[in-house]
Amino acid sequence: MSGSNSDRSQEVFERKWSTYYNAVVGRPPRETLLTALGNFELERLEDSITNTCVSKFAVDLGCGEGRDTVELLHHGWRVLAIDGEAEAITRLLERLDSDGQLLETLISRFECVTLPKSVDMVNASFSLPFCLPEHFPELWKKITLSLREGGRFCGQLFGERDSWAIFPTITHHTRQQVEVLLQPFEIEMLEEEEHPGKTAIGEDKYWHLFHIVARKK
Ligand SMILES: C[S@@+](CC[C@H](N)C(=O)[O-])C[C@H]1O[C@@H](n2cnc3c(N)ncnc32)[C@H](O)[C@@H]1O
Repeated sequence: MSGSNSDRSQEVFERKWSTYYNAVVGRPPRETLLTALGNFELERLEDSITNTCVSKFAVDLGCGEGRDTVELLHHGWRVLAIDGEAEAITRLLERLDSDGQLLETLISRFECVTLPKSVDMVNASFSLPFCLPEHFPELWKKITLSLREGGRFCGQLFGERDSWAIFPTITHHTRQQVEVLLQPFEIEMLEEEEHPGKTAIGEDKYWHLFHIVARKK
């Protein structure tokens, strides 16, 4: 039967990211990023001995047109912004002001990305589910290894009831699987969101998300 779930499970998920970038122009940074930044700030206030003027270093993985990268730069962070789409990096560079000296960019797919060591934060807002599932375990290992002790991961994963979880090229997790992924971390936020809604470009979608902020042990 045309359009049934079993037919769709053979479909390749395709996105015109350009349309997404146009739709989210001017949107604010993600709450997960703001929470992680707030937690770093609390630590800085609590531990004034370790307060230095050296910029902290973040990787923005799947940065898109840069809503989170720009926020990090405004907070004085050094950022390596990574995306598989050249257009994302072009748009990010076009929206920069003088904060650009703290920014490095890289066009790379998650499936073959190399991440730096001793990173203070890996931010991956609404991007990791687009890593091919067979490559996700290796990507997660790279993220975990790239973070220093006390560094933070923030971002989203899709749950198993998300309407895009039927696509074989989309990565999704159960809550139990998310908890296993987060074993090397202290969990600071693990919020599950589930409801019918729309995508940024107005398509109907059933959302099942995990919003995560976690501090590496
Ligand atoms: C939904 S957008 C999120 C962008 C931004 N982080 C935000 O919160 O608006 C997902 C981003 O991940 C990138 N992306 C998707 N699959 C990718 C892959 N396999 N490797 C690298 N980047 C990928 C897309 O190009 C896109 O910019």
